Amino acid sequence: MDRRLFVSDLARYAALCAVVPNVWRVTSRPTFTEYPFALGVASGDPTPTGGVLWTRLAPRPFEPDGGMDGTRTTVDWEVADDEQFSRIVKRGRAVAAPELSFSVHVDVEGLAPDRWYFYRFTSGPAVSPVGRFRTTPADGATTPLAMAFASCQHWEQGYFTALDHLAKEEIDLAFHLGDYIYEYAGNRKAVRVHHGLEIRTIDDYRRRYAQYKSDPMLQRAHERCPWMVTWDDHEVDNNYAGLVGENRMESEEQMRNRRAAAYQAWWEHQPVRVPRVQSWADLTITRRVSWGQLANFWMLDTRQYRSDQACGDGTQAPCDEWRDPSRTMLGSAQEQWLLNGLTTSARWQVLAQQVMMAPYDAAPGPEIRTSMDQWGGYPAARDRLLGEIAKRAPNRTVVLTGDIHTNWVNELHSDFARPDRPTVAAEFVATSISSGGDGADVPPARLSTMQGDNPHLKWFQNRRGYVRCRVDANTWTADYRSVPFVEKPGADVATASSWRVEHGKAGIIKAG
Ligand SMILES: [Fe+2]
Repeated sequence: MDRRLFVSDLARYAALCAVVPNVWRVTSRPTFTEYPFALGVASGDPTPTGGVLWTRLAPRPFEPDGGMDGTRTTVDWEVADDEQFSRIVKRGRAVAAPELSFSVHVDVEGLAPDRWYFYRFTSGPAVSPVGRFRTTPADGATTPLAMAFASCQHWEQGYFTALDHLAKEEIDLAFHLGDYIYEYAGNRKAVRVHHGLEIRTIDDYRRRYAQYKSDPMLQRAHERCPWMVTWDDHEVDNNYAGLVGENRMESEEQMRNRRAAAYQAWWEHQPVRVPRVQSWADLTITRRVSWGQLANFWMLDTRQYRSDQACGDGTQAPCDEWRDPSRTMLGSAQEQWLLNGLTTSARWQVLAQQVMMAPYDAAPGPEIRTSMDQWGGYPAARDRLLGEIAKRAPNRTVVLTGDIHTNWVNELHSDFARPDRPTVAAEFVATSISSGGDGADVPPARLSTMQGDNPHLKWFQNRRGYVRCRVDANTWTADYRSVPFVEKPGADVATASSWRVEHGKAGIIKAG
């Protein structure tokens, strides 16, 4: 090559480097000061032919930009039949960008239905941990399903021992029903301490996700199988409703900004197929996953579109506002989408959602006191939904719930305002992974007292864990998997109680 040309090329390249901002550059040969896959890998939102694979480049996860230098960076991905990656079936290249905190979402397509696969990422010299994921059965198939659902993993209140056990279960799918992170400031007396103050900005939320995602037990559970993730309140702010925050000092505009930061950070850190929208504050995460013809799972959002809690929130005696029939839990668009969905022909219709649907009267005797944050605080919306379930999918609808850090088994009636109405659905409420700490044993007399005013309640328990379900065309079995403590590591898991629903039959039967 002509030496003068070479020198002038070099000069032009140097000039270009000086004017191109870092964020427009893409490097395919990054060097990392530390391991960039420190937050692990995850997969989710499976279809019969694919799923979403996730990772994030973060060599120093608690620093701004995760310790990246601001340059867009290529990340290669591979999907293989085997764990050794000797039979690679798909591969490709993605770009991790600073404006999305160097997260990567690969929506893989073209795989075979009802099959397990392995995946990994590479960037420069670094190779990620290997994750395992699977496609769902083809449309029409009634292949049985093993799944688990969990929620509420307060970092400060305990270890994620339950997730470690969940990772060892033979399950096809895991559901997380929210409170994946908590927004509170660090408390120096806690079991493990949150970094920083209460989170409000995008950088705060990213750093909080990085802290939670650094947990090896959470990482193992993600590596094991695809997850379906939805959110509850603590991904933004305790008990928020729409644009009303917990602390009413925050204006609607401040809540919009906070929601935008929180929703964006959620999207960046979850393996979800959720289309981005113009404004992050309006991100819609409502979606469906189908397990062949066996089950439709409706992933709901009971936070973003709800009316503000009635009667001043908290556990209250009902006031006039509580009875207002125009108050909504799902918002009209989501409610209509769900009702239309219930007419589909899947054997089981499953509502994967946040707050308890069965009413609970916490005051013994004729007095009524109920949580204004749960469906019990929105009686018109609840009875409207249960009335439609009675018409469209009676006794083949199962509601999966999180939020309240205790285990419940509830029969759902078509109209709780009229207790003589029949049971039309089953609700399984899973306790927390760690929120609330160790918990305590519930004396049998307490359960009897609770059942006095709440005869639809079949069982209650106050330990940490998750619920494992085995589902086939005729039977839904729920095993309440329970750990005796979380404030120290190392607890074993055991099945505390098992419950069964027969397709087409009213009621929930004790199964062991
Ligand atoms: Fe929670």
